[in-house]
Parts: sequence; structure tokens; C-alpha cells
Amino acid sequence: QIKNLEEQFEARIARDEKIEPKDWMPEKYRKTHIRQMSQHAHSEIIGMLPEGNWITRAPSLRRKVALLAKVQDEAGHGLYLYSATETLGISRDEMYEQLHSGKAKYSSIFNYPTITWADMGAIGWLVDGAAIINQVPLCNTSYGPYARAMIRVCKEESFHQRQGYEIMIKLANGTPEQKEMAQDALNRWWWPSLMMLGPTDDVSVHTAQSMKWKLKRKSNDDLRQQFIDQTVPQAELIGLTIPDPDLKWNEEKGCYDFGEINWDEFWQVVKGHGPMNKERMKARVGAWERGEWVRDAAMVHAEKKQERKQK
Ligand code: ACO
Repeated sequence: QIKNLEEQFEARIARDEKIEPKDWMPEKYRKTHIRQMSQHAHSEIIGMLPEGNWITRAPSLRRKVALLAKVQDEAGHGLYLYSATETLGISRDEMYEQLHSGKAKYSSIFNYPTITWADMGAIGWLVDGAAIINQVPLCNTSYGPYARAMIRVCKEESFHQRQGYEIMIKLANGTPEQKEMAQDALNRWWWPSLMMLGPTDDVSVHTAQSMKWKLKRKSNDDLRQQFIDQTVPQAELIGLTIPDPDLKWNEEKGCYDFGEINWDEFWQVVKGHGPMNKERMKARVGAWERGEWVRDAAMVHAEKKQERKQK
């Protein structure tokens, strides 16, 4: 009978039908979605930290408002994604426990420090730019709640990308020191942004199956190439130089050739040994612990309200 169910399931995927929470699904499909979606949610939550570092030091009220809004959006994306993941039968407490105990992964990119204001520009431009390229295909993913969450998330990501690029335009056209600051941020964020899109296809353990299930619609290498081809002209437009001496337009292939990515660095960061992994976890776990009394008070308040209603 399972075989029959599995055949029906595969046929639905082939017809591009969305799979919904109450539908039958193979256990591996469920697990792999929990893995990717919860990692995605954790990335949004941890992703607030590098930028949160600059909210109090934004150079103008306008910049501060935009940065605050962006960081709040990220919290929203995280909560949205946790809710979507809960529909697969894992509780939010379990996901938090996995993150806080260091068992769960989150995106490598958020383990780099934000040293100058230009990093806010580079993150919006490059990190959110890469995130959009990765997430637009996910609007078409086979699991309904994930696909729907991604539609809204992508709209907000596009505002994030533009606010970052606008910061870079301003700095690149500013004083020599400001331009230098923008170039320095590009130099530091370029390679980690390429790594963020995941290991190369030949070592990506999940891609083949995830493509079959239409969880992933494009491979890591295809997304990386798309990101590079899209971003290089944007750098040129504002007079910044991509820190890759091997970067070259390939007329025949119609895309850029690029230099060797330092995959050792990537795996070190993924394994917890990046420049900021420890600080990020400490900040996250600290915030969770400091917020305990708020959660307890909210629960007691909800219970009292319920009791009053019943009287
Ligand atoms: N950072 C940390 N871990 C990573 C990264 C990364 N940038 N890329 C891949 N990995 C991990 C995978 O999670 C996997 O580990 P696991 O088996 O323990 O789960 C392992 O490396 C092998 O990689 P893949 O087989 O390529 O994994 P997958 O098919 O899941 O592809 C990808 C990775 C592209 C990140 C995919 O999961 C994805 O598209 N996720 C949704 C988007 C997302 O999470 N974005 C987060 C950052 S965007 C933002 O928050 C602004």
C-alpha cells in the first residue's frame, strides 16, 4: 500500500501539485523539509545579529529606520518559517533546542563580523542579493507552506537588497575614505557570499534528491553563477572592483568565469570555527535566557485570561 501511496505522491510532484501538511508524504520528504526549512528559519534569526550591531550607530535617522525595518523583517521571516516547519510535525521548542544546543546549522554567512557601516551596504547588496537568487525558485517549491512563505519573504528581501545597494552607491560616490570603506566591505563579503549558496554540485549531498522532489528548483552552482553574472555589472556601475583576479567574461559560455573558492574556509565556518560562530551563539542563547520571564509572564497572562472567560 505504501508503494501505491508513494506512486501517487510522485505523480502529484510530477504534475507540479503542491503538497499540503495533511497530505501523505514519504518520511524522507518530511525530514528533508524539516532540515532545510528549520535551517532557513535559524538563518533568519541569527541573521539579525550582524546588522543589529549597527542599529544604534546608523549614520542618519533615515538609515536607522530602514535598518530597523529590515532587521524586524528578518525576525518575521524566521517566525514565518518556524510556523511553516511546524506543519511538518516538529515543535518550535524542538527547533529552538536544536539551534541553542549547536546541533542545528544556520547559514555560514552570518558568522562574519560587521566591522564598518559599509558592511550594512555589502550585506544588503550581496547577502540579500544571493538570498533572493536562492529564494525566488523556492516560491515554486513543492511543499505548499514553504512556497507561500517564500513569496512574501522574497518581496521583503528585494527591499533589503535595494537598501544595501543604495548604501554602497552613496559610499562609492562619497569621499575617498568612504569609497575605500565600500571597497573593503566588498573585499570581505564577496567570497563568503559565494560560499553561502552552498557547496559545489559534485559534493552537495542533498541536491539530487531535493531536485527530484522539487524542493530545490536550481542547483547550488547554477544559483552561484546567476549571482555572479548579476552582481558583477552592479559593482562596475558604482566603480568598485570584485576581489577576484580570475574573474573574466566568457564569451562562448555567455557567463563569467571565476576564481577558486576557499572551500576549507567554508567547511570550517559550517563546523563552528568561523570568526563569529561563538559570539553569535552566545548572543542568541543569552537573548533566549533573558527573555524567559517575558515568555513566562505571557503564558500566565494567557491562562488567567482564559480562566476569566470561563467564569
Ligand atoms: N551554511 C551552512 N551550512 C550549509 C550552507 C551554508 N551556506 N550550505 C550548505 N550547507 C550545509 C547543508 O545544510 C548540508 O548540511 P546537513 O546535511 O547537515 O543539513 C550540507 O552543507 C551539504 O549541503 P547541500 O547538500 O548542498 O545542502 P542543501 O541541498 O540543503 O543546500 C542550501 C543548501 C542551498 C543553503 C539550501 O538548504 C537552501 O536553499 N536553503 C534555503 C535557503 C536558506 O536557508 N538561506 C539561508 C540564508 S538566507 C538569509 O537568511 C538572508
